[in-house]
Amino acid sequence: MQINQHARLSTAPMMDWTDRHCRMLHRQLTRQTLLYTEMVTSAALVRGGALHLLEFSPDEHPVALQLGGSDPKELAQAAVLGQTAGYDEINLNVGCPSDRVQSGCFGAVLMESPALVADCVAAMRDAVEVPVTVKCRIGVDDQNPEEVLPEFLARIVAAGCERVAIHARKAWLQGLSPKENRDIPPLDYPLVLRMKEYFPNLHISVNGGITSLDEARAFLEAGLDGVMIGRAAYHTPTDILAAVDPVIFGTGEVVAAEDAVHAMLPYIEGHVTGGGRLGQITRHMLGLFAGRPGARVWRRMLSEGAHLPNAGSSLVLEALTQVAQQQEMARQCE
Ligand SMILES: Cc1cc2nc3c(=O)[nH]c(=O)nc-3n(C[C@H](O)[C@H](O)[C@H](O)COP(=O)(O)O)c2cc1C
Repeated sequence: MQINQHARLSTAPMMDWTDRHCRMLHRQLTRQTLLYTEMVTSAALVRGGALHLLEFSPDEHPVALQLGGSDPKELAQAAVLGQTAGYDEINLNVGCPSDRVQSGCFGAVLMESPALVADCVAAMRDAVEVPVTVKCRIGVDDQNPEEVLPEFLARIVAAGCERVAIHARKAWLQGLSPKENRDIPPLDYPLVLRMKEYFPNLHISVNGGITSLDEARAFLEAGLDGVMIGRAAYHTPTDILAAVDPVIFGTGEVVAAEDAVHAMLPYIEGHVTGGGRLGQITRHMLGLFAGRPGARVWRRMLSEGAHLPNAGSSLVLEALTQVAQQQEMARQCE
């Protein structure tokens, strides 16, 4: 399958959340979904030499590296490092509104500098073979999205951007925290749909506020090429990802959360034996049984036990046994 087809559904890049352990869990739930890394800055890679930030497991493919930066030359160098590390795609962050990111002049503030973004895309495009993509907002502050978004897209497409994910709300760079900027500016899905009319050959994914596969399917049926899901995929991974392969990609079967847990055990074992902490992995697994019997005991056992000395995969198995008991009790009460 081509990477553009995998992008029919993708998990959003999320700092501190979509690290390699999280992606490994998500990969147990879906073979096809395109997974994004957390944002890694080009400066950290090129000037800081922090190549460990690029480490990932081959089992995570297809996986896209998201870069943050605004220096075309440095981004090109970072893109080469990403390609050499084995990433399937290099994505540029033009959507993140945090203060730290604004001060470095990258993220959503770049919506105001489409020519610079185009230079960044062109430099990365020239440097690597893998697709170069952009994740953006519909605008920032007092920009008129109706005007600026098509112009922005035209420029980055001309520069060689092969796919775009549009978070369907503005970022307000003054006065809102990054968290508020993910909820308060209103969503404008019709605008994103109109972009598909203006750019019929551009692969466009919609992002923002999508919380079910039914919603995702509706966007695809309405003509968009892809749907990117962030928080819902993280908090309720089973609801969003376990049925993606059959429902969205027309292949494979629905995965049971229990099977995903079993599939994670060798990975957990390897991590802990190598000196890693169990909690670094299990913190991403807390929502696996959300909305199902046993959710509470699962969450509690992992939260309380994973940080104890010598905690390992046996704790995860014990928690799973408790979940099974709760589920059996729930069945008997039906
Ligand atoms: C904890 C967290 C961290 C995020 N970090 C990034 C990031 O590094 N890069 C980025 O482009 N967007 C980032 N985002 C935004 C998401 O990628 C996504 O655009 C946003 O959450 C809206 O999608 P959703 O409603 O499906 O969550 C982050 C979101 C969250 C919740």
